[in-house]
Amino acid sequence: MKKAVYTSYGSPEVIQIIDIEKPIPNPHEVLVKIKASSITRADTMMRQGTPKFGRLIIGLFKPKNTALGTGFSGVVESLGNKVTKFKIDDEVFGEKLFSNGTNAEYLCISEDSIITLKPHNISHKQAAPICDGFLTSYSFLRDIGKLKQGQHILVNGASGSLGTAAVQLAKNMGATVTGVCSTKNVDLVKSIGADYVIDYTKNDFTKMRDYFDIVYDSVGKTNYSKSKKTLKANGIFMTPVLGSNVLWYSIISPKRVKFSATGIRKQRDLKMLLAELVTFFSQGKLNTVIDKTYKLENIIEAHKYLESDHKVGNLAIVN
Ligand SMILES: NC(=O)c1ccc[n+]([C@@H]2O[C@H](COP(=O)([O-])OP(=O)(O)OC[C@H]3O[C@@H](n4cnc5c(N)ncnc54)[C@H](OP(=O)(O)O)[C@@H]3O)[C@@H](O)[C@H]2O)c1
Repeated sequence: MKKAVYTSYGSPEVIQIIDIEKPIPNPHEVLVKIKASSITRADTMMRQGTPKFGRLIIGLFKPKNTALGTGFSGVVESLGNKVTKFKIDDEVFGEKLFSNGTNAEYLCISEDSIITLKPHNISHKQAAPICDGFLTSYSFLRDIGKLKQGQHILVNGASGSLGTAAVQLAKNMGATVTGVCSTKNVDLVKSIGADYVIDYTKNDFTKMRDYFDIVYDSVGKTNYSKSKKTLKANGIFMTPVLGSNVLWYSIISPKRVKFSATGIRKQRDLKMLLAELVTFFSQGKLNTVIDKTYKLENIIEAHKYLESDHKVGNLAIVN
């Protein structure tokens, strides 16, 4: 089978497609024939080995884990002899955290990990990126920011993977949503449910005063210092991006500034969030925004596009 790997850190050209034996599932694993997989910012960071302190974990001089890709969607082809939760031909999707490797033709994954049945009303390419934007933003909105019905949230980077998810989820949760994006994405952000859209090339939301209950900077393009006057008393600034002193502020002002990462949350909690997302997708309340799709052999092109910083929603590899 074909699989994308990288054996050194660097530009997209370090990625190679290799041919290896199809894996055989362990007793509690399923073998998934991958129909679509995601390509995310996390993948580019793994490939680049950035931030550099992260190399203490992922490999000092070269990557310990050479496989790429975390999100997947596909069909169960075979089962380990102790699997009880899935059967052959089930359509499933999920995420392989840490020991990634979904940019491939097949994947073995434990039936107890982040894997669930795919709603019938969405395609594999719509399902594969759900554990990036939707799972992360839902974790922030529901659990970190505890967004309540009637609150006003500003989503900075409303046209990205996390941003398009956050706008839809916040509307679904009964909030008023202001999305921030550039001119070319204003119509899209309105179309996915934002009540108000601020074009950051024309207006600066940080000049608004006492306006928002939550500022969710989904792309790490602003910071708490710049945004705090736009927050109401007791308003929260939250971001999934480490930088702009977010760690410092989250220590000295933990009630007002929050950082979190999906990967540090308990698997049990992620599975609960995912189950709720599956219900919303099944009810037709959410839609994965897809910018471009690529064949596995064109994965380098996909990584180059991702680094442009202006993708809209998600990218997917389709097998
Ligand atoms: N903590 C976690 O668990 C976690 C999980 C997943 C991702 N992340 C991080 O979350 C961040 C966002 O990921 P993503 O995949 O959502 O990003 P993305 O899709 O690559 O973001 C691209 C979007 O950012 C917008 N953008 C660029 N400059 C902007 C600016 N100055 N102001 C507002 N919007 C701007 C672009 O819109 P325009 O073209 O209109 O400018 C584009 O649509 C990444 O840093 C990623 O590493 C963290």
